[in-house]
Amino acid sequence: MADTSTAIVRPASSVSGVVRIPGDKSISHRYAMLAGIAQGTSRFHNFSAARDCFSTLGCLRAMGCEWKRAKDGAIEVQGRGPSLSAPSQPLDCGNSGSTMRMLSGILAGQSFSSEMFGDESLSRRPMARIMTPLSQMGASVEAREGGRPPLKIRGGSLKAIHYKPEVASAQVKSCVLFAGLFAEGETMVEEPIRTRDHGELALRAFGAEVGRSGNISRIRGGQKLTAIEAHVPGDLSSAAFFLCAAALFPDSQITLPGILMNPTRARLLDILILMGLRISVAHLEEHQGELIGAIEAQGGTWKGGTIFGADTAALIDEIPVLAATAPYSENGLEVRDGKELRVKESDRIAAVASNLRKMGAEVEDRPDGLRVPGRQRLHSAELDSFGDHRIAMAFAVAALRAEGETIIHGADAAGVSYPSFFEELQSVTQ
Ligand code: S3P
Repeated sequence: MADTSTAIVRPASSVSGVVRIPGDKSISHRYAMLAGIAQGTSRFHNFSAARDCFSTLGCLRAMGCEWKRAKDGAIEVQGRGPSLSAPSQPLDCGNSGSTMRMLSGILAGQSFSSEMFGDESLSRRPMARIMTPLSQMGASVEAREGGRPPLKIRGGSLKAIHYKPEVASAQVKSCVLFAGLFAEGETMVEEPIRTRDHGELALRAFGAEVGRSGNISRIRGGQKLTAIEAHVPGDLSSAAFFLCAAALFPDSQITLPGILMNPTRARLLDILILMGLRISVAHLEEHQGELIGAIEAQGGTWKGGTIFGADTAALIDEIPVLAATAPYSENGLEVRDGKELRVKESDRIAAVASNLRKMGAEVEDRPDGLRVPGRQRLHSAELDSFGDHRIAMAFAVAALRAEGETIIHGADAAGVSYPSFFEELQSVTQ
């Protein structure tokens, strides 16, 4: 469906205040899915507000896992144990690649056939990366030509595999580990680059044993999961928009309590410090294996930098906002090894380059990245979200330093990960 919403963002002179960021999207998806196949009712505090996570909950409900919001705001999911009920209709994954890819691992272990579909953007995204391992494990997975959704999955008895994915993808890793729960033997995933480990930590939280050494994660089949009560840390990838906004103004000061500090995600903070943002972290705690802390950030000199190799994989969701704000930096930004950016909710290399050019910036787009020179002045423009939540939010931040008002068409896309983003941004900009 076409997204017709529009946001107008005016220039600011500073960013300051406290923002309570909703729960992490990656963790919320995994908690919800594992709660569905656990024994008992799980409760999640600060569950993500993302539309994507409600796509996951919708699919679970269609397979007999009822969920509701309790009086204290927690999301409660009724687990059915490992066997779900066959959905009466195709499962709607909306815009959510995470839902489709990770839920596939669970559907591959069910005794029924199911179909998953998504919106226009999701229907263009590559699924061969999960079809290959699930087929090797013994499931039948069919897609449209080129491995594009909808996906038809016939589950069955699975056997363990040692899988070495070509792309560094935490969604693929979680998909295979989730399928591994239903497989005979020990399933291993050996990653080319270590990706976020929320799947492993969530499985452990629900009581499964998950082994890890170097880039290999392993799980024995047949383990049963037990319901948990958990607090979801604030989403660091959503926090990134406020951190980059603070970086644009030397006298900014922003506080973000309760943010995810998982080391497989927190490389962002190192990079932001290298690029000139002053950051301190306090009140470190651990919840179900996930680290959480309060971030204090102050603007400094936004210097820019280079992101490549393992850092590109670690910062894949934050690159749009780093690139959109790079023209205001001293040295600009170069992103390499980011071919994956082309197959996200939009082609994020093309989307960033197109919007930056509309704002009058010079930018070089490359097959696997971008180079954005620094010390540029950007002007008002009419931009497009390309139906991509992170593009809508990245350019709302870039607009804070532009001359004149910026119009962002399709801004409602932000709700895919952060429905209250525009209100929160307005509340901290002066
Ligand atoms: C995610 C992994 C990343 C990321 C996505 C969420 C996850 O995708 O871009 O937003 O929760 O595992 P890939 O696995 O495709 O790299």
